[in-house]
Amino acid sequence: MSIALIILAAGKGTRMESDLPKVLHRIAHAPMLWHAMRAGQSLEPERSIVVAGHEAEQVAASAQEFDPEARVVIQSEQLGTAHAVRQAGPELEGFDGDAIVLYGDTPFISQETLEEMARARAEHDVVVLGFEAADPGRYGRLVTEGDALIRIVEYKDATDEERAISLCNSGVVAADAAVLQSLLAEVKNDNAAGEYYLPDIVEIARARGLSAGVVHCAEAETLGVNSRAELAGAEEAFQQAIRARLMADGVTLQAPETCWFAWDTVIGRDAEIEPNVIFGPGVTIESGARIRAFSHLEGCHVSRGAIVGPFARLRPGAELAEHTHVGNFVEIKNAYLGEGAKANHLTYLGDADIGEGSNIGAGTITCNYDGVFKHRTTIGRNAFIGSDTMLVAPVTIGDGAMTGSGSVITDDVAPGALALGRAKQVEKPGFATRLFDMLKAKKAKQNKG
Ligand code: UD1
Ligand code: CA
Repeated sequence: MSIALIILAAGKGTRMESDLPKVLHRIAHAPMLWHAMRAGQSLEPERSIVVAGHEAEQVAASAQEFDPEARVVIQSEQLGTAHAVRQAGPELEGFDGDAIVLYGDTPFISQETLEEMARARAEHDVVVLGFEAADPGRYGRLVTEGDALIRIVEYKDATDEERAISLCNSGVVAADAAVLQSLLAEVKNDNAAGEYYLPDIVEIARARGLSAGVVHCAEAETLGVNSRAELAGAEEAFQQAIRARLMADGVTLQAPETCWFAWDTVIGRDAEIEPNVIFGPGVTIESGARIRAFSHLEGCHVSRGAIVGPFARLRPGAELAEHTHVGNFVEIKNAYLGEGAKANHLTYLGDADIGEGSNIGAGTITCNYDGVFKHRTTIGRNAFIGSDTMLVAPVTIGDGAMTGSGSVITDDVAPGALALGRAKQVEKPGFATRLFDMLKAKKAKQNKG
């Protein structure tokens, strides 16, 4: 069965009090919209259609950043959820299969739930995702009789009796795409809000002799975001879920509640994450690596057996091979550390290639930026970079070469050579004693006067 996803993302999200459209606010470093699109991708949709309206250009760009094939339609006036889904009509031309409607501001619908909805279509013409709400509040209510879904009533239009129903509408709907479009054509806006309600398709379908059913999910999956406070709540919910999943997959988290992961963090079995580690987007940690406390990682790859931190910072393009060590107050950006290479203290390595087994001494800096351009530093295998070496890029250090501590290295160093780029030491016998005596005498005179 082919699937077309229709993701509603036209709303402004007034209560966010933001210039940014609601669906582009981030949870775990990804726009909410991406979370919804990612869940839908598990169904291997033939096409994904995003309905944009408020700040449509930004929403379209973001949707296509996640999925370059995503089709975007514009709903220039937000006249209701049914009106929004209707806008997808032109992009459904030539499509034969099921349409599944998702909301861009409801990021936590699980893949399993969507798969169950797709399966439930075998039994019902229209499938609605419902949940038992602890506090049903203003959600639409599902009116059922046995297995059958009779209709959905919006809170604003509901009687007291209907408001007492705790089975609520998540908004997610599945139906044959052509049937859905024909049902939508009949939806009217003669209701309390004066909007075209998507949920009205249930009653219209039944009037045509079609059947409607409900798939149930946990309330947590339907969590929607309408305000900054709810955004923070969604972040917390996401973090709790990913921590639990990582531990279930065999990752040690010493203090799970102190670590923050990104939407796409990948960590292998038997990796160990100490407290207070922050993951930005694009991080892969392989099995058995150890990330020590207070490290900050983004856009990087850490291989098996590597040890990072405490207090390390891995920035985008940091690539650590197996058994590398990156210690405290070391920052690595766009740099490769070969197998067993070490940079243990107070170092910046940017735009660099470091060969296997090389040791980078404390306080080493790759001077990669001349104020306009970035330049590369290349260090061979088993090199020894003395403490406090400034490597002024572009520069190459050969295999097995050494640099003296405190050197400013501006020229390439041949394999096996020792490079010293610092002033020669001079010694003045007795000078310090005489200087101190002179200074102390001066102070004594001042104190008297
Ligand atoms: C909707 C449902 C309600 C359900 C609830 C679950 C309707 C009429 N009501 O109510 O039964 O319990 O969701 O959260 O569908 N959108 C558009 N264009 C529009 C209107 C909405 O794209 O013209 C998008 C919004 O950006 C949002 C989603 O559709 O992502 C839901 O719209 P919203 O106005 O929040 O619906 P609710 O009133 O919450
Ligand atoms: Ca809503």
